Amino acid sequence: MLGFDQFKLKKHMKIIIRIALLAILIPTMSYGEDKLNREGSTNVAGVEALSGELRDLLSQEMRALQSGMMSIIPSYNSGNWGEIETTAGKMKNSYILKQRLTESQLKELHSVLPDAFIEKDQRFHYLAGMLEHAAKNKKPELINFYFSEMNESCVSCHAIFATHKFPALSSKGEKGAHTH
Ligand code: HEC
Repeated sequence: MLGFDQFKLKKHMKIIIRIALLAILIPTMSYGEDKLNREGSTNVAGVEALSGELRDLLSQEMRALQSGMMSIIPSYNSGNWGEIETTAGKMKNSYILKQRLTESQLKELHSVLPDAFIEKDQRFHYLAGMLEHAAKNKKPELINFYFSEMNESCVSCHAIFATHKFPALSSKGEKGAHTH
């Protein structure tokens, strides 16, 4: 529906400019609505207060990430390291979202992003970079390791910032993550 697959998997287009901007925003929490500060935490669920356009981009970004993650499994199992490298590189560079945001949208996002969100986001992009690197070096164990770390990274951000979307994650965030 979004055409990401063709985008991402088929044409190895390197359209994503590697700007060394801090991180990429999967945006964003609009900050400051008191009623959204639940349980005295500093978490802000203001994603729900985003403008329709930005929120839409966020959703698209997320689905692209998900689709990228899913595509890695068959690539991994067939030893297609090059494909993983390409996909991971796109995830590292934030896929679509970054390409579409205007300057002023970028500013807006940066101004409303809580630090914790930015940290999670940076962590995620760091891991994607490591995955890219591991794939480039054709190291299956490391690829598996970073893939798993990335999965964890999705959940750990969702557990704080997307519990409205994924309510099952909300208690996990409070109990502390690593209970299996
Ligand atoms: C830095 C924080 C963060 C990270 C990292 C993150 N997400 Fe999300 N994700 C969010 C937020 C916030 C939402 C809720 C967006 C909304 O409600 O509009 C979300 C929503 C989603 C959705 C639902 C999108 C929709 O609207 O249909 C999917 C799917 C998703 N994320 C997948 C992933 C995957 C897969 C990863 C890891 C590869 C990931 N996310 C990493 C913050 C994050």
